[in-house]
Amino acid sequence: MSKSVNKWGIPHLSGKEVRQSFIDFFRERGHTFVPSSPVVPHDDPTLLFINSGMNQFKSIFLGDNRLGLKRAVNSQKCLRVSGKHNDLDEVGRDTYHHTFFEMLGNWSFGDYYKKEAIRWSWELLTQVWCLPKDRLFATIYKDDDEAEAIWKSETDISHDRILRFGEKSNFWEMGDVGPCGPCSEIHFDLGDLETQAATFADPVLGVNGTNARYIEIWNNVFMQYERLQSGDLKPLVAKHVDTGMGFERVLSIIQGTGSNYETDVFRPLIDRIAETTGVPYDQGPKGTPHRVIADHLRALAFAIADGATPGNEGRGYVLRRILRRASRFSQQLNQKDPFIYRMLPTLVNIMGDAFPELKQRQDYIAQVIHAEEDRFMRTLRDGLARFSKIAGDTKQSGKTTISGQDAFVLYDTYGFPVDLTGVLAEEQGLNIDHEAFAAAMEEQRERARSAAKFDASIAADEGWTILSSQKETRFVGYHELACESRVTRYRELGDDILVCLDRSPFYAEAGGQVGDTGWLRSDELELRVVNTFKVLEMHVHKCSLVHGLLNPEKLRHLKAQVEIDARAATVRNHSATHLLHAALRQVLGDHVQQQGSRVAPEGLRFDFTQPKALTNEEIARVEHIVNREIMANRSVSVAEKSLDEAKREGAVALFGEKYGDHVRTIKMGEFSHELCGGTHAEATGQIGSFRITVESSIAAGIRRIEAITGFVAVEQARQTGQVLTNLAQSLKAKPTELEQKILEISEKLRAYDKELKSIRLEQVNQRVDQMLNEDSKALGSGRVIIKKLDSAIFPKETHQAVLDGLAAKLGNGVAVLTHVDEGNLSMLAAVGVEARSKTKAGDIIKDLCKVADGRGGGRPDKAQAGSKFPEKEAQVLDAARDFLNKLFV
Ligand code: ALA
Repeated sequence: MSKSVNKWGIPHLSGKEVRQSFIDFFRERGHTFVPSSPVVPHDDPTLLFINSGMNQFKSIFLGDNRLGLKRAVNSQKCLRVSGKHNDLDEVGRDTYHHTFFEMLGNWSFGDYYKKEAIRWSWELLTQVWCLPKDRLFATIYKDDDEAEAIWKSETDISHDRILRFGEKSNFWEMGDVGPCGPCSEIHFDLGDLETQAATFADPVLGVNGTNARYIEIWNNVFMQYERLQSGDLKPLVAKHVDTGMGFERVLSIIQGTGSNYETDVFRPLIDRIAETTGVPYDQGPKGTPHRVIADHLRALAFAIADGATPGNEGRGYVLRRILRRASRFSQQLNQKDPFIYRMLPTLVNIMGDAFPELKQRQDYIAQVIHAEEDRFMRTLRDGLARFSKIAGDTKQSGKTTISGQDAFVLYDTYGFPVDLTGVLAEEQGLNIDHEAFAAAMEEQRERARSAAKFDASIAADEGWTILSSQKETRFVGYHELACESRVTRYRELGDDILVCLDRSPFYAEAGGQVGDTGWLRSDELELRVVNTFKVLEMHVHKCSLVHGLLNPEKLRHLKAQVEIDARAATVRNHSATHLLHAALRQVLGDHVQQQGSRVAPEGLRFDFTQPKALTNEEIARVEHIVNREIMANRSVSVAEKSLDEAKREGAVALFGEKYGDHVRTIKMGEFSHELCGGTHAEATGQIGSFRITVESSIAAGIRRIEAITGFVAVEQARQTGQVLTNLAQSLKAKPTELEQKILEISEKLRAYDKELKSIRLEQVNQRVDQMLNEDSKALGSGRVIIKKLDSAIFPKETHQAVLDGLAAKLGNGVAVLTHVDEGNLSMLAAVGVEARSKTKAGDIIKDLCKVADGRGGGRPDKAQAGSKFPEKEAQVLDAARDFLNKLFV
């Protein structure tokens, strides 16, 4: 530890030392260190990203503490892109909000409560880290007299520094429903002590005010209620402590920088950005681009390392927006080419020791970011064209306001933030319907929210008819496909009926394997199960009513029957997926990592990391190896063991997946060994057969294989044979002669095509002659043709021939032609032999490109260009007239 102290008298610690001393402090007080879970919650589709240290303990708060954990401590990777202060569009403008950040936390699960939590947090801050007491404040919930008494008796905080606040600041809730409770926060005063606010609780100047002088560093939540859908609070059986401290913020205090971006977890990155772009960093508004890029690179790198990729939906869409924002800011630093990915090595230097996943996946992360930046730069160019069209249409219809919907499309599809659209609009004398834009945005947020709400409402008790308090389902479906079950709860939701059972043979969707289908029956009632999924520990059977009446009496006991054929087909595909995974690693190498899979009765899909497409030969080898393993009829053995033991034995764990301490392993002979909770064949022979149907790319560095097995594969082979037989019949050939036959036909077609082209050329030549007669006008010493081409007479494929004809026959003349087709403007120029001493076709086109923002060029005799701004056609023709006037008159 270094002895230097900062301006507040706090001894210096590095980022690594702060992280470690927090963990050590609580370990010494009986806490178990639990590593950060991946920032991408693979097992919770309702949560976009881990946004708080407590996420991975959600089920413990809701009453399931099978691991028997009493006290825990960690530093959790978090990502927040919404909420009061974490609006993506604001991050980087100040010095202490982030998308990605680390949250230091300590927890008590029904063990210690307010007294220890408060005492320890004060002790760590003031005695271990030596933060000055006259800069700290404690806030408590307005009714929490107990917390106030503890602050007074357990710490030596000055009493006027304990402040009471209402729900907004001091009652923490995980979401609309779920565990919650009053909290006590600790704030730090960064300012000049002489000028402290008259009252510390001043809503403008003081703690929790709008002034950035007082910043919150640590939140101690006393979990004691569950918020129900009705809005009521239900006391939890046990009381818990959940705390969260902003690592980067506390570091900025300990390192005396006052800005998170000046600490040693950020500054090298900021410096590297400044050095590479040549734009120096500024702590004020001019440094926003540096801060945005540094912040967003962290978010992207960690999310990608943990298995997310930029895309159009959900998490992928959030990443795409983060990347696009960073990319736009990199353009403000004059970067015309992909830039963000180049900063990755510096980030890996700073964070790679604490989070080795960054080091392990560095190349892959760089590839993904680079590809996405490149794609965005192309999108931006297209977006400008789209904007120009929108602006043109708006003006043409006599309006001065761009609609909210159009602004939203630019935002959503092209990544144009509304202020950029605003600036472009202003240049054209237009404005934007901001209200309608906000409404379109709100609609999009609502869509995202309602998806998340669904799961929470299932976990809560409201809306359910509860027949038993049991909140878990015993899964018996590894060995049985039918059983007698008791209904624990059910509810109607639209046309669906959701049923939970005490025990069930139905596999609930997980690990890529789809949920089982089947039936729930009693004497008087039949329900068709269309899907099964898991919420907390309950299997929810989503059903439609076949016949009978729903009432609690009829529903108490049911016979649960899984659809046997569908399950058998799923089992084949799941076991085949394991063989495929192992075969891919054998053929392509160990870099192959599973990125996702879907196993259903009709087939399987397997996504994996692999930089380039598979060759036909590689596909054939993989297919052959899988079929070889099927025919060898390897026995499939299932075992349950500790995670450590499974890993020691070399079982393949999925990247970024979170496993409990106890895991299930599936072994197929010596060929494949994976952790998996799915259902499998007893021996590989049951898979029957395996065929790869599609190999494709789904994102930069990620390939997808689709395949079929069993009856589906056999049936497909039969159908392919049938198609060949039919084809042969209609071509009057034997199937074996088909290839030769089709070759002959396509040669014949080529000959016809050639003939047709020469006839067309003849026709074009006639039309060119006609143009020379009818459209050419004498101008000064020469002749000119200025003309819009009609698509029906001069389609695009004739343009070359038209230019050739004109260039040969114009003599001392020049032709400029335009053509509009599918939103594109073509510009063409031809210069006759004698006129070539005066001008070149390429120069004319270059001039016109300036008018219509086009691209193209050519030779002295003929040239052409294209533009995405068809509305500029008239301007182009005017410019051509000017040009030719100057040339000949
Ligand atoms: N869960 C609490 C928070 O996120 C500690 O602020």
